[in-house]
Amino acid sequence: MREKIEKVIKELKKAKKVTVLTGAGISKESGVPTFRGKEGLWQNYKPEELATPYAFSRDPKKVWEWYDWRRQMLYDKLPNKAHIALVKIEKFVPNFTLITQNVDGLHHKAGSKNVLELHGCIWRMKCWNQCGVPPWEDRTVPLPELPPKCPSCGGIARPDTVWFGEQIPEDVLEASLNALNCDFMFVIGTSGVVQPAASFAYHAKTRGAFLVEVNVEPTPLTSMMDVSLMGKATEIMESIVSGL
Ligand code: OAD
Repeated sequence: MREKIEKVIKELKKAKKVTVLTGAGISKESGVPTFRGKEGLWQNYKPEELATPYAFSRDPKKVWEWYDWRRQMLYDKLPNKAHIALVKIEKFVPNFTLITQNVDGLHHKAGSKNVLELHGCIWRMKCWNQCGVPPWEDRTVPLPELPPKCPSCGGIARPDTVWFGEQIPEDVLEASLNALNCDFMFVIGTSGVVQPAASFAYHAKTRGAFLVEVNVEPTPLTSMMDVSLMGKATEIMESIVSGL
């Protein structure tokens, strides 16, 4: 493991453009459940009943109850050493982009600056009727009324997150694809099964990036990696930044 970490540090020191893709695993040690795996959210909840536009149109209160529960659970969670390591790396490299599939806001809370939230943010809402009001931040927990209302048209509000069957916002997707033109990429704590993020490492590789995966177990992306670091994101990322 030490040798692999030394190699990663050496490549990172040379890199001019670094891109990071994170998934739920990076927040695990902050006490946030992942989606898949033994204790994952999708063990007890069905994505098709809670994370699709159809589910919301059928029963917005039910979907909001789940989001309200997740917001309460996330409210006092703090960034961990892996989130903080990425803040240090952002300061260290000339060009840095952090693409996250997480909606928990912990990268921002840690102090990361150039963050692309591929699946949106649980602390923002938007108008379900698309009345034209821009998405707004609302950190109230628990929410006093479910579903909450759009402050502009008075219709139903929805979480500003990307559900299954929905497109990633065009500007975020475009910026993410541009960031894959990099010379070093970290893929941290993602199962690598949800598109389009699951293809990002492949795109970066075809453009010549050095790929490093950090995960507690192998994923469908592992075989493509230049270095695969198996272990907890906090421990691995901390030992990488301590060598910079
Ligand atoms: P998953 O729950 O699918 O995967 C989490 C990954 O983190 C797994 O590969 C774990 O092995 C790994 N992991 C767990 N603990 C870790 C730790 N301490 N350190 C490092 N790795 C660890 O989460 P995502 O890949 O983020 O989308 O899931 C992608 C998307 O699927 C989510 O954004 C969400 C979900 O359904 C939507 O809701 C649209």
